[in-house]
Amino acid sequence: MAKLSVEDLNPKGQRVLVRVDFNVPLDAEGKVTDDTRIKAALPTLKYLLERGARVIVCSHLGRPKGKREPSMSLRPVVRVFSELLRRPVAFAEDCIGEGVQKMVAAMKDGDCLVLENLRFYAQEEANDGEFAKKLASLADVYVNDAFGTAHRAHASTEGVTRYVKQAAAGFLMQKELKFLGDELANPPHPFVAILGGAKVSDKILVIQSLLEKADALMIGGAMAYTFLKGQGVDVGSSLVEADRVEITRQLMKDAAAKGKKILLPVDHVIAKRVETDKLDKKGRKMVEFQDVKNTAGTAVEAGFCGVDIGPGTVKAFSDAIGGSKTVLWNGPMGIFENKQFAKGTFEVARAVAQSGARSIIGGGDSVKAIHASGLADKITFLSTGGGASLEFLEGKTLPGVAALTNK
Ligand code: 3PG
Repeated sequence: MAKLSVEDLNPKGQRVLVRVDFNVPLDAEGKVTDDTRIKAALPTLKYLLERGARVIVCSHLGRPKGKREPSMSLRPVVRVFSELLRRPVAFAEDCIGEGVQKMVAAMKDGDCLVLENLRFYAQEEANDGEFAKKLASLADVYVNDAFGTAHRAHASTEGVTRYVKQAAAGFLMQKELKFLGDELANPPHPFVAILGGAKVSDKILVIQSLLEKADALMIGGAMAYTFLKGQGVDVGSSLVEADRVEITRQLMKDAAAKGKKILLPVDHVIAKRVETDKLDKKGRKMVEFQDVKNTAGTAVEAGFCGVDIGPGTVKAFSDAIGGSKTVLWNGPMGIFENKQFAKGTFEVARAVAQSGARSIIGGGDSVKAIHASGLADKITFLSTGGGASLEFLEGKTLPGVAALTNK
């Protein structure tokens, strides 16, 4: 790697500021419901602590928009982190200021301190120089292990690197860059990619980039309906991004010109979407799905919308996955959070796990599906990045990586 690694540092007795991505889901009681990101950061943190560093951990949680928001405190995360680390971990109620400085000054070699949510300050997302300087003043060196936030040029990911002696990549950061970058640049072929999720607009650049590298692309989830509409298929009331229909046509043409395949669903699970009078937590009308059935072919009848891929599509996608040597998967195949419409996503998870191919899965829902199917240990690499992995796959430079010290 062209950037300094945590292994290049001499951490004994040093104050090391480690940016992690502890942006984990919490339930209504504030309990961590998925500790994947915490576990993924442990190798770097253990490495530094075992070598006598004074480790100051910082992260964001949620989007509190620059205000102190008690439901987004990192305190409950620290409890889980301390259990996983099997060490006591101190917690600072702030991320900058005198109180934090005192706590840092009292740290001994091998101590670990977690700072409160960085995004309680608007200066974090604004990449404010003064705020970055205050963070940097807490430490001698800086390590970025927050791949999931590396696409953000924020004070704790980008600005801070200007005010520390050394800024190095942690083990998780290096692993993510290796699997999503180097490994997919020269993958064993056939290389197939499966993309899903609601919006085609989020994935256009990824599709363009993958058309250069992959042999075939499979498109599922609601974004498939924008593609199908572009191919003149009736999609009923399925979600379509009207202003993206033309670009999907172009993508199909580009693929054909390159001799690549884009596989679209050939059948669907469909349902009538009905708004009820019940309100959700945000005061929005809740939706119910009625008259659930499978289509006989590619078309969706009027009044119905596609909610999952059908059995014919599962077979076609599974066959393509089964014949591949490298698989990349990002995004669910249907409204996966509703158990009735999760089958397509689970079947794809199974096909990826059983393919024997090198498999890389990114995006929260796909990772959740593979965990829920109990097949996660069959996957070569599970990315902790959502937006970051997409931007990296698009070929964009991630500011949090670019800012690190060159070797
Ligand atoms: C994520 O969950 O994708 C990262 O933690 C980044 O969060 P953000 O989209 O709120 O910047």
